[in-house]
Amino acid sequence: MVEVGPRDGLQNEARAVPTAVKIELIDRLSDAGLPVIEATAFVSPKWVPQMADNAQVMAGIRRRPDTRYPVLVPNRKGLDAALAAGCDEIVVFGAATEAFSRRNTNCTIAEGLARFSEVCAEAIARGLKVRGDISVCLGCPYEGEVSPGQVTRVARELYAMGCYEITIADTIGAGTPGKTRAAIEAVAKHIPVEKLAGHFHDTYGQALANTLAALECGVATFDSSVAGLGGCPYARGATGNVASEDVLYMLDGLGIETGVDMGRLIDAGGFICRELGRETLSRAARAIAARAKTA
Ligand code: HMG
Ligand code: MG
Repeated sequence: MVEVGPRDGLQNEARAVPTAVKIELIDRLSDAGLPVIEATAFVSPKWVPQMADNAQVMAGIRRRPDTRYPVLVPNRKGLDAALAAGCDEIVVFGAATEAFSRRNTNCTIAEGLARFSEVCAEAIARGLKVRGDISVCLGCPYEGEVSPGQVTRVARELYAMGCYEITIADTIGAGTPGKTRAAIEAVAKHIPVEKLAGHFHDTYGQALANTLAALECGVATFDSSVAGLGGCPYARGATGNVASEDVLYMLDGLGIETGVDMGRLIDAGGFICRELGRETLSRAARAIAARAKTA
């Protein structure tokens, strides 16, 4: 399980979230046993002001030796800042469509890939791990339908640059299990399926079903967000990622070992929901809380 709440979740908040709250959230998530936590993004603060405290977040968290803390990096400037902050894993993020690439990173797909190629080479030379995310794989807010071929093209390039894992992201949650399977199967013809990950937003209530569809294709790594936080500032109306608690409930039910403690995960979700003044979007967290009340 890759927890993306502190980054994907909090990047989308209208109000500034205090740095101390972000740090406490990340520490609670690592205490819950999450093996990978996307901690922040070294992107332009003019584009995403919510991530402007990236270096303070990295300096403030209690880094557990068995937890990884990847951070988003869009360009050389971001890599330099991530290195200065002591990050040891980065995420480069491209898109399957030209329109989304332009809106999210102000460049064409090819220009973005050229930047990432330089960033990857430098990061890998410095001993960092690099993950590659691809947005709008199952539908684009600007271009509509996205073909598996469009996803495959970008995936192959990122893999060739040395990304150890390629994340198939449904940014606007438009995908359904059949579409998910088609995208994964197309990419898996070129990249070993164990190198693929899923990142599903839940806008249309399909994210858990898409997670299962990808799991059945052989994908074994999934991004999720505690309490279902999240969205992308450049995909208006798109809601959060699939809730981590819901993914964990499903994986536990399937007998798949994750090392994540449900009680502590729910407590971390409760903490951030109280701080943001809202209810959790996790169905499993709500059901477990309701059961506890009636017990
Ligand atoms: P640009 O405006 O073309 O770049 O933005 P620029 O080089 O002209 O820079 C503009 C200003 O930003 C300059 O400042 C730079 O120094 C500064 P000025 O000179 O005007 O004072 N700048 C930076 N500052 C700090 N760190 C940096 C950095 N880079 C430039 N790294 C750029 C191009 C890529 C920078 C911009 O478009 C950007 O930061 N985009 C990021 C957008 C973003 O974070 N989106 C959300 C994350 S992706 C996502 O959520 C999808 C995902 O979850 C998967 C899915 O669901 O699809 C991953
Ligand atoms: Mg996302």
